[in-house]
Amino acid sequence: MTTEPRGTVMLRVARVVEETRDARSIVLEVPPALVERFRYRAGQFLTLFVEVDGAKLKRCYSLASAPGVDAEHKVTVKRVDGGRVSTRLVSSLRAGELLEVEPPAGRFVLPADARAIALYGGGSGITPLISILKTALAGGAAQVTLLYANRDEGSVIFRDELDALSRRYGARLSVRHWLDDRDGRVSPGDVARGPEGAHHFLCGPEPFMALVEARLVALGVPSSHLHVERFVSPADPAPAPAPTVGGDVPERVGIEHEAIARDVPYVAGQTLLEAALADGIDAPYSCRDGFCGCCAALLLEGQVTMAADDALTPDAKKKGLILACQARPTTKRCKIRFVEY
Ligand SMILES: Cc1cc2nc3c(=O)[nH]c(=O)nc-3n(C[C@H](O)[C@H](O)[C@H](O)COP(=O)(O)OP(=O)(O)OC[C@H]3O[C@@H](n4cnc5c(N)ncnc54)[C@H](O)[C@@H]3O)c2cc1C
Ligand code: FES
Repeated sequence: MTTEPRGTVMLRVARVVEETRDARSIVLEVPPALVERFRYRAGQFLTLFVEVDGAKLKRCYSLASAPGVDAEHKVTVKRVDGGRVSTRLVSSLRAGELLEVEPPAGRFVLPADARAIALYGGGSGITPLISILKTALAGGAAQVTLLYANRDEGSVIFRDELDALSRRYGARLSVRHWLDDRDGRVSPGDVARGPEGAHHFLCGPEPFMALVEARLVALGVPSSHLHVERFVSPADPAPAPAPTVGGDVPERVGIEHEAIARDVPYVAGQTLLEAALADGIDAPYSCRDGFCGCCAALLLEGQVTMAADDALTPDAKKKGLILACQARPTTKRCKIRFVEY
């Protein structure tokens, strides 16, 4: 992640691919001049700005293509009941149209040293996982497992591609398809610990992720090896900043990020992310609206208020994680450390 202004660009839709009855892949043309800005890591997402009924709506979509494996940038969108952007993209987007897109971002990415990977996907949650899966296998990860839950056979996105990958990689890739209409709901006993030392990546509907995460924690998987991506839309309308009434406003706040640990000036009303960026710290962020999770940080000292925290699971909140783009301190002393989430 960098602190360069994100800015949006217009990209042409090269193809729209029908994946299932309610999911389409959108392949985007990235012109040579933008190749560098659109370089990405497996697991990252694009932010799309789509006009629906006169309003420009912002939504994130994970790249389902894999860097270094697939030549094209591809996102895959599943229609949500009553969903404004997903309905527009799945029902009426055509090849040749232009889409307003912000370059790749996100911290749900493959650690460089990951040798074994366990993936748990539900429905459209497969999108970042297939990118991670293909990248890990192509990069030589010893072992990849995938538990992929869907309502029924007709809902399985990338069925043929996963079958082909299983044939190609043999024992290095183990894919377990779970169909609710055949197998019932996934229960804790269905979640295996995965290969020894594996990094675990979870993406899917909230109840599925909560169940898998709780099980993995019970099985002793350390939080450093648990990676969670939540598919949420920004709050609409955007929430007003949380008031700091009655709270103390610090003059400086402590920020730790990678090798940096320092106190930076704090101006009343700023978020912790704004304070870090204003002092030149290359803090991670993307949406700034509290729904992508890129700016997750551990609250080491003090207290904060947040207007939105949808990107955090209840468990993450219990562990003291906050969203720096939303957090304003309410105590004289406040210190955070940006962390992978
Ligand atoms: C990092 C990230 C990656 C993602 N990757 C993907 C991906 O790869 N593929 C994918 O399909 N999705 C992905 N998503 C989810 C995606 O961004 C959208 O949230 C999703 O497509 C739904 O958007 P929508 O506009 O269609 O629905 P929305 O219009 O936002 O509606 C969402 C839900 O709220 C209800 N709703 C809508 N308006 C209102 C209202 N005014 N009051 C009450 N309820 C309302 C709808 O009925 C619906 O159930 C990702 C999200 C994130 C944060
Ligand atoms: S930058 Fe997206 S949640 Fe903070």
